[in-house]
Amino acid sequence: MKIITILGARPQFIKAAAVSNLFRQHFDELLVHTGQHYDANMSDVFFEELNIPKPAYHLNIGSGNHGAQTGAMLTEIEKVLLTEQPDFVMVYGDTNSTIAGSLAASKLLIPVIHVEAGLRSFNKAMPEEQNRILTDHISDLLFVPTQTAVDNLKNEGIQKGVFNVGDVMYDGILHFTEIAKAKSTILNTLELTENDFLLCTIHRAENTNDPIRLKAICAALTASGEKIILPLHPRTQKYIADYGIELGANVKVIEPVGYLDMVRLESACKKIVTDSGGVQKEAFFLAKPCITMRDETEWVETVNNGWNVIVGADEAKIKDAILNFNPTRERLDYFGKGNAAELMVDLIKNHKK
Ligand code: UD1
Ligand code: UDP
Repeated sequence: MKIITILGARPQFIKAAAVSNLFRQHFDELLVHTGQHYDANMSDVFFEELNIPKPAYHLNIGSGNHGAQTGAMLTEIEKVLLTEQPDFVMVYGDTNSTIAGSLAASKLLIPVIHVEAGLRSFNKAMPEEQNRILTDHISDLLFVPTQTAVDNLKNEGIQKGVFNVGDVMYDGILHFTEIAKAKSTILNTLELTENDFLLCTIHRAENTNDPIRLKAICAALTASGEKIILPLHPRTQKYIADYGIELGANVKVIEPVGYLDMVRLESACKKIVTDSGGVQKEAFFLAKPCITMRDETEWVETVNNGWNVIVGADEAKIKDAILNFNPTRERLDYFGKGNAAELMVDLIKNHKK
């Protein structure tokens, strides 16, 4: 059985790391890299250190406005699908690479597998919300990570082909946390010790593209006075420079790091401050308090369980949470057993078209 998997952005490489090596044992899986992310520290590093199979096709699309970027991907992916004639096309998450892959396949009547289906922020201004709703509605197999995602799909009339397999990022964390501990030297390099720093990431468009929000976030990080490590996405680097924002000496900005360094930092930090989807979940898996600088989250379980707090881009709330948010409740088991990839293999094999 031939599966073409479309990838393009950092979190998709990390999800593929948890899936593709197992898939290779059962299917003829070919990876197609759209080139949405292209800097070495946003792309190559993950393929090298996580042993992800080399993409069979690299489309080199690069950055651009949503329409231009997604349209260019659609054109090129269609060519690959016409050549390869796969049995399935698989996409991850909610990026422009996701919608381009699912739409190209759906128009050619190739069944679509959507991994991390059913997530909703209920904020249609987010490009990711548009991408995930559209992808879910043209997918044949919808692998969802949580019961909330099953319910979200049901509310939109989607029940056929929906399987709660758990979260592939949980598979990844279970596999890579000890490897990261053994291999990563980032704590030494940055002269950090366990529990003496916070870890922060910022890249969400609604924060970076709005100077008021980005300034408030940076002001809160500085005003907290805490030692904060900030591996900065290139998008945010650009906007911080454009807006002329200065961060305090307590905030150490570094280039984006590879996944093993990231997991090591997540495992060793006191708390995590982020607007990332994946990082919110990793905080929960690793029992780190998470402060989410968004106005809502798709990962509502982590908030309901008391381990994640939504603070928007409100300077006072962010600072207060950095200093005072200390969850204590037992974490519940929302994200499956860490065997999502294995369950996906069986469900794909047994899928009746
Ligand atoms: C994309 C996804 C987002 C996901 C994120 C993961 C969409 C609409 N957004 O956002 O859902 O959370 O990836 O990180 O698909 N850039 C570089 N080098 C790179 C990549 C990007 O400099 O290797 C810069 C460019 O200026 C580019 C900007 O970052 O214009 C944004 O990149 P893009 O892929 O469009 O969106 P992300 O913010 O990365
Ligand atoms: N990540 C990483 N290096 C970094 C920042 C993030 O490896 O410098 C990892 C992080 O551990 C998680 C994934 O990237 O697995 C999340 O991707 P991102 O925050 O870019 O996107 P999102 O999950 O919000 O779509």
